[in-house]
Amino acid sequence: CGIVGYVDRSGNPAALDVLDTGLSSLEYRGYDSAGVALADDDLTVVKREGKVEALTAALATEAPDDVAVGIGHTRWSTHGPPSDTNAHPHTDCTGNIAVVHNGIIENYDTLKAELQERGHVFESETDTEVIPHLIEDGLDRGCDRETAFRGAIDRLEGSYAVVATFADENELLATRQDSPLVVGLGNDGYYLASDVPAFIEYTDRVTYLEDGEFVRVTPTGVSVTDIEGTEIEKSISTIDWDPEDAGKSGYEHYMLKEIQEQPRALRKCLRGRVDEIEGRVSLDLDLDRSGVDSTHLVACGTSYHAALYGAQLLRAQGIPAQTFLANEYDETCLAGERPLVVGVTQSGETADTLGALRTAQAAGAETLAVTNTIGSSAARECDHALFVRAGPEIGVAATKTFASQQTALHLLALWLGGGDVDPGHIAALRAIPEQVQSILDDDSAREVAAELADSAAYFFIGRGPQHPVALEGALKLKEISYEHAEGFAAGELKHGPLALVTPETPIIAMVTGYDERARKTVGNVKEVQARGAPVVAVTDGKADVEQYAQHVLTVPETTPEIAALLANVQLQLLAYWIARDMGRPIDKPRNLAKSVTVE
Ligand code: G6P
Repeated sequence: CGIVGYVDRSGNPAALDVLDTGLSSLEYRGYDSAGVALADDDLTVVKREGKVEALTAALATEAPDDVAVGIGHTRWSTHGPPSDTNAHPHTDCTGNIAVVHNGIIENYDTLKAELQERGHVFESETDTEVIPHLIEDGLDRGCDRETAFRGAIDRLEGSYAVVATFADENELLATRQDSPLVVGLGNDGYYLASDVPAFIEYTDRVTYLEDGEFVRVTPTGVSVTDIEGTEIEKSISTIDWDPEDAGKSGYEHYMLKEIQEQPRALRKCLRGRVDEIEGRVSLDLDLDRSGVDSTHLVACGTSYHAALYGAQLLRAQGIPAQTFLANEYDETCLAGERPLVVGVTQSGETADTLGALRTAQAAGAETLAVTNTIGSSAARECDHALFVRAGPEIGVAATKTFASQQTALHLLALWLGGGDVDPGHIAALRAIPEQVQSILDDDSAREVAAELADSAAYFFIGRGPQHPVALEGALKLKEISYEHAEGFAAGELKHGPLALVTPETPIIAMVTGYDERARKTVGNVKEVQARGAPVVAVTDGKADVEQYAQHVLTVPETTPEIAALLANVQLQLLAYWIARDMGRPIDKPRNLAKSVTVE
């Protein structure tokens, strides 16, 4: 989602234009609805499901064009499906306070119940709506606006960038926690946004807010304070992007931006679901775990690889799990069984996957969507939905959604297995975002890519949880580089593919840990090395495979399952840099679409 706010200081109030332009500039982030609130004597709030264009058309007739202060938002649904009502901004009972919010308020149901008890009436299904009501509650208790705002924020658990505006006040109040917020300092006015592109055409002078900082913006200035209310001296930076590039936050491609966003996406996927103190995984699913005797996972493309991975983790919990390509799933797959059928689909709209889920439902099976998209067909049609919380993904090649699917399926397996998890495993789960970050900080994949680009073919091998990752690594590379790439179970190499191995075909081998699987994969590495193939070892160094490899991509030590998530990040980077070196149109590969809605 995206946030934009504006306070005019030129005397020529143009909030409507600035917000409308800002929201259009944030469209690249992906969204399903948009809205603005303009603060004059009263607040005018206009919201529309769908494109910013629809909002712009509504604003032309429903909003005053001479207002000095306002806020706008593009929403990517997290609580409640896309609709005019669920779109931001949200208001309090009086309609005098409007709020936009990015992030997730985890304790919103408790807060909502408490506010309802005190007579607050809610209109939307969102978590955000508790914020204006909490502010109203503070004002009712006699607080001034800023104290009421701080009091409201103090009650929130979760992640947020929040901006509030008030009727009859030339002021914006804002703060952040785990969600970006930046102030733009222009000659004509001040800007607040989740991302610089929202205002880059008006000013390149910015101040970045840190977690826990509060900002008050008025026509006379911007003041930033800490949690105690002490003024903070902030530095001003100058953005040197071309506005054209800014949509990608300075990255050359969405794919690279989305690879880099993984630590944050994974933090969101884990948040509130892993209880360190209790040693439990808890998921907000109204599903009778004890009734689940077996599972079928149905999916396509990258999601199929996540499903293969998830099935291994389910089986490790003693839950029978089979994976099916959604387009190969029919009634016969269900013969004599009543499994929980899990549709893994980032978009929630893939026709093949929806078809498989409908087949399962027609046969009387209970269904669960594991998806990134609230309000998607899969989320709506299935009996249950588990959201992977990766945030919008624009690049056709799935990257952060895959890592989030792996993590969500890992949590699902643990939850279906009873939910109790030993402390070591909990710590390993919580370390994932940081470990992914350490891989992103390493430049090795770029260097290896420079040496391997334009080879005759690329083969990826792995065992156990690394097998689906080998398949995914090859898919990613072929999608974006147009090179021939294939993934194999390491043990299968000798049953055929070895015939293809030559000094012109790099082998990318995932060897993590030092167990039976790792030792066998080292054996396979020796076989290809003996045939002169250049080997890239993706390893944590425990199995001593480096001695047989020309190139090494390192991953931190962890459990065998999580090692497969980490290895994949190196493969994403390798695919990206190979395709980049070859000058391919990385974000929009030929013939492919982000979401395939035909069977
Ligand atoms: C398309 C995309 C793939 C994706 C697959 C499944 O083919 O190009 O990247 O993995 O659909 O998409 P889903 O939305 O169901 O995860």
